[in-house]
Amino acid sequence: MTPNLIVATPILVILCLLIWLRLPGARNTAKGDPPTTVTALNEIREILAPSKRAVSLSVLLQSRAIPNQRLRRAFHINNTFVSADPHVHSRFVADARRLLSEFSSRESERRWSEFREVTSHLVNSYLRGPTIPYDVFAQTITFGVIVVTLLDAEVSELEFESVAIVTKAINDLWCLSKTAAEGDVTHTLLLDINTHLHRWIPKYDNPLEFILPAFETLWRVVAAALPHVYADPDITGRAFADFFDNPVEAQFECFLNDRPSVRAVMQETLRLYPPTKRIKRSIKRFALTPIVPTFVRNTFPNFFDKTVVADVESLQRSDVWDASHTFDPMRHSEGRVTAESQRTLLGFGYGRLACIGRTWAPRAAALIVAAILEGLDSVNGERYVLIRGDEMGGREGWKGWEFRLVAKDEGVSCYR
Ligand code: HEM
Repeated sequence: MTPNLIVATPILVILCLLIWLRLPGARNTAKGDPPTTVTALNEIREILAPSKRAVSLSVLLQSRAIPNQRLRRAFHINNTFVSADPHVHSRFVADARRLLSEFSSRESERRWSEFREVTSHLVNSYLRGPTIPYDVFAQTITFGVIVVTLLDAEVSELEFESVAIVTKAINDLWCLSKTAAEGDVTHTLLLDINTHLHRWIPKYDNPLEFILPAFETLWRVVAAALPHVYADPDITGRAFADFFDNPVEAQFECFLNDRPSVRAVMQETLRLYPPTKRIKRSIKRFALTPIVPTFVRNTFPNFFDKTVVADVESLQRSDVWDASHTFDPMRHSEGRVTAESQRTLLGFGYGRLACIGRTWAPRAAALIVAAILEGLDSVNGERYVLIRGDEMGGREGWKGWEFRLVAKDEGVSCYR
């Protein structure tokens, strides 16, 4: 064979394959089977943490990146969630750890106090007007705290209206990325987001790379925890007020008789309402799948690979916990929690790709909840109350939920 033929043959084979896959009949085959969902602990662990000998880091990253390509397309990001490159992984994880490092160093007390001050400042300036939609408030405060405390934005530049535009656009774009929508709408949303981000955080080329993993999850933990604390002011509410006054680790961990620790409340929130309900991995269908070029695999994800879904939400609500659908932070207290039940807590993933923010995030979310609750009463002669909608939401679904301004002595119940 001549050298030209050696080069041309694989290119021709790939071209023919691409043309065939573009044909309507073939596209149906390429859609593949529906994803397989696994709910048992051992199956989930096998999917998320295969042995290093059986699966290399780059194959593991590839298996996460393929189902996440929609995020690369929607947000134009290239972080470790969408890339199979081990160098991207090590650099991104190191950079993300660096953002959080001072919160667990000798500087930690100062950093957590600053975190509280920034949150309170944002709460006091964003709590305005007769009503505020609950999800918008949780999103804007969480976003503001992240970009100020982790990415060095100036708190004074974060005017509420622009932050609300950016957080709504991120949410809309996230939801649109699950559909086939592309084009003008998604382009305009991304432009809106990045125009503001580059103004607030000029030193990062693409701040969304860091903002997305932190913001997308954290605001939903804040939103899910707050109504439970609000509904129990004398016990759980006291624990959060004490933590607001003294945001140190010992206070976060402290159980007092029948009063749950703040950490237990956050663990229970993450158990019952994990923001990442399902973690997807793409597993190869054929022995030869790994030699198919990445762009071809990404273009036809269900043909060369099949999707397996680790259903963390259903595992965390399984019968290893009594009354597993009830919010009960005391179940995490010593004497009640068992090693078996604790093993099912996988809200931060498991294995080599588990979350690097798992220590920081529950404490940060708790301090945001505590600062919001503290701020509701800090209006002269008036206060904000939480009006509940019919159901707790997730990323969407907070219809009817709002903070409403009432006179201090007006007895508005949080339950309608
Ligand atoms: C409550 C908030 C959070 C939740 C529920 C959460 C959840 C998760 C989950 C489930 C994973 C594993 C993904 C997978 O296996 O495919 C993950 C990975 C990751 N998270 Fe988080 N996360 C949170 C906050 C954060 C924050 C605040 C940061 C950083 C500032 C962060 C950075 C990361 C990074 C870098 C990874 C990838 C680790 C790796 O690939 O080695 N997360 N997170």
